[in-house]
Amino acid sequence: MKAYTKTKYGGPEVLRLEEVELPVPKDNQVKIKILANSANPADWHIIRGKPFFARFVFGLFKPKDKIPGADFAGIVTETGKDVTEFKIGDKVFGESLAGGVFAEYSCVNEAVCAKMPEGASFQEMACVPIAGLTALQALITHGELKKGETVLINGSSGGVGHFAVQIAKAYGAHVTAVCSGKNVDFVRSLGADKVIAYDQENIHRHTGKYDLVVDTNGNLSFSDYKRMGRRGVVVGFTTIGHMMSVSLKKAFSKFPLSQFTAEANTKDLEILAALVRDKKIAPRIEKVFPYQELPEAIGYIEAMRTRGKVAMSWENTDGHLN
Ligand SMILES: NC(=O)c1ccc[n+]([C@@H]2O[C@H](COP(=O)([O-])OP(=O)(O)OC[C@H]3O[C@@H](n4cnc5c(N)ncnc54)[C@H](OP(=O)(O)O)[C@@H]3O)[C@@H](O)[C@H]2O)c1
Repeated sequence: MKAYTKTKYGGPEVLRLEEVELPVPKDNQVKIKILANSANPADWHIIRGKPFFARFVFGLFKPKDKIPGADFAGIVTETGKDVTEFKIGDKVFGESLAGGVFAEYSCVNEAVCAKMPEGASFQEMACVPIAGLTALQALITHGELKKGETVLINGSSGGVGHFAVQIAKAYGAHVTAVCSGKNVDFVRSLGADKVIAYDQENIHRHTGKYDLVVDTNGNLSFSDYKRMGRRGVVVGFTTIGHMMSVSLKKAFSKFPLSQFTAEANTKDLEILAALVRDKKIAPRIEKVFPYQELPEAIGYIEAMRTRGKVAMSWENTDGHLN
């Protein structure tokens, strides 16, 4: 089968499209014919080995795992003997914690997969896992957002942000969203009640007060959270120094500010699938790259200015189900 491999850290150019052995599922894994991926900042962090401390997890001198990739959608072609929730032919999507999905086939733990909703495309559902799980868990699990509350979402036009606006609306919140001027109409079309262009209004001087402040961009300071929010959730980060400053101030304050790493699980993926099925949320795809241009897709999102999501398609491979 075809797969992207990496044997050293670097930019997207270190990825090589190669012929490798078909993987064999472990007892709790499903083997999936991958039909689409999406690109996330986590992919280029892992491919570049940046920030440096990530190398203590992903390999100090060279990457431990050969095939990268986390978000996928595809069809189950084989099941391990302990798999209970999926059968051959199921259309599934999910987030592989161990990488390995930038390939024609991958074996993934069944606990990080869910069935696709009727009518949704592979490209759409490949865009949901990391960004959708992060938005859902930021707002609901950690932010404890309730119907009728007000939420400010800083960084509302990218992968996580565009899901966060739609999920917050689906849960009955009043949404104020922050994005660049060029994305104001896009974010309004997602359902935001009020949109602030950060290049026209200085968010660090904004005087509004909200039940919850969620920052997917990571440039809000601790005092921004305290001034604008009754509670807050940190999702992204801009620099290590900025992140450490927020963490240190939080440690010496009673202000309820959560920092978290999103967790892949079937239950939350099923919530997202139901929201897509009920048309409460819709992945917005800025661009689809064919699998032959997957490294270009990773390079494209590194600018961190994506409107919605970027997907990669494997649907033009030979189509055999092995
Ligand atoms: N905690 C977790 O578990 C977790 C999980 C997933 C992702 N993340 C992190 O979350 C961040 C966002 O991920 P993503 O996938 O949404 O990235 P993305 O798709 O690249 O989106 C980034 C967005 O940031 C916005 N932005 C840039 N400068 C901004 C500013 N000054 N103020 C407000 N927004 C600004 C951009 O919107 P404009 O073009 O409109 O400026 C862009 O749409 C990344 O740092 C990522 O590593 C964390």
